[in-house]
Amino acid sequence: MNQVYINDAKKHVGEEIKIKGWLFNIRSSGKLMFPEIRDGSGIIQGVVFKNDVSEKVWEDFKNLTQESSVVVTGKVREHPKKPNVYELDVNDVEIVQIAEPYPITPKEHGIDFLMTNRHLWLRSRRQFALMRLRSKIIGFVRNFFDSRDFTLVDTPVLTPAACEGTSTLFEVGYFDNNAYLTQSGQLYNEATAAAFGRVYSFGPTFRAEKSKTRRHLTEFWMVEPEVAYMDLDGVMDLAEEFITEIVQNTLAGCRQELEILERDLSKLEAVKSPFPRISYDEAAEMLKKGFEAGEIEKPFEYGNDFGSPDETYIASQFDRPVMVHRYPAKVKAFYMEPDPADPTKALCVDVLAPEGYGEIIGGGQRMTSHETLLEGIHNHDLPEEAFDWYLDLRKYGTFPHSGFGMGIERCVRWISGIEHIREASPFPRMLYHMKP
Ligand code: 4AD
Ligand code: MG
Repeated sequence: MNQVYINDAKKHVGEEIKIKGWLFNIRSSGKLMFPEIRDGSGIIQGVVFKNDVSEKVWEDFKNLTQESSVVVTGKVREHPKKPNVYELDVNDVEIVQIAEPYPITPKEHGIDFLMTNRHLWLRSRRQFALMRLRSKIIGFVRNFFDSRDFTLVDTPVLTPAACEGTSTLFEVGYFDNNAYLTQSGQLYNEATAAAFGRVYSFGPTFRAEKSKTRRHLTEFWMVEPEVAYMDLDGVMDLAEEFITEIVQNTLAGCRQELEILERDLSKLEAVKSPFPRISYDEAAEMLKKGFEAGEIEKPFEYGNDFGSPDETYIASQFDRPVMVHRYPAKVKAFYMEPDPADPTKALCVDVLAPEGYGEIIGGGQRMTSHETLLEGIHNHDLPEEAFDWYLDLRKYGTFPHSGFGMGIERCVRWISGIEHIREASPFPRMLYHMKP
């Protein structure tokens, strides 16, 4: 008899199957025991009836502790009352190991304890749903670009220069020199966009974020498309189409996960085109009015970047993601194309998720002129020699181009509706957290 994954048990109603997994939980009442078995694909409730099994099987189940590893044999049947739920009429068990007292019990645990035990915490139902969701969302992301004939081009993790400001660089020794962990694959995507037209990268990125927030990790995965001859409007269209498709696919393909997470589906169903597009100036005006109406605590200072409460307020005015474009150039990175209508503004866009989840996408149009780019590099006090190759792109057939970056964990956090980004990563890295 072959092993069957719990997710596939429904295809085996009436048959005897073998499940290889762990004891999630067990209840008993008189001559019945109800072990819940999980195998990574799902959880199934077993029914052990004393009169139907050998003395040994009954005793074995009595001795099982939480997370003991077991191979359970039984017949699949439909739950007598609940539709689409299946049970296992158990007739045999093979114990692989009786687990030592498991630290994570069904009672409530503090977050520090859970984070220290992340390697075990991942076995819980909620974390199962989150990691499955993450895995599926990554599939939707890849499929979005692959199906549109983008070329996946991986960018390096070890880099010679900063992309997103020097304050969050992780420096590492590199033989006799230093290197930095990448903050973004963008600069490389610009080179590959000149070679392959439409490209995307997807990989780990690093920022030495010294603040403790619910949306910053020091290591996160970013997907970054870059398109030759695309302008700011084009990249806003692309981001809108991208987010809409991911949310639609999640709603269609991740029902089980969203149910476990108790996600309010109506909030996701509202995510439809068109997304509102407002300028930084309009957003600033909105914040001013909000402050005057007493809806915001601190006044927003025009010219600054938005803080997290500002983003939350702006996003709260809409039921779907909002795109804020044309920020002051001085609060943005060195490579942004200035707005020809007002060169103090950059042709950039941030996509803010609804419900207070904040920025999920940052992107825009890149500088085409060698001269202004060199100026940008100098103005940001960046070492010119580290960017010589990047400047080359403006010498050999410069071209308008745009792209964006989306942090997968930010996206998972929003779509799953969880409070803190740490649960969107299997092994999150943060200021005070490196283990396991
Ligand atoms: O806005 P950012 O800094 O933009 C860039 O890195 C561009 N070079 C991307 C591009 O145009 N190709 O970061 C992009 C996104 C953010 O919108 C956010 O989703 C995520 O990366 N992000 C983080 N996610 C988790 N933890 C952090 N510390 C993050 N910093 C940025
Ligand atoms: Mg940003």
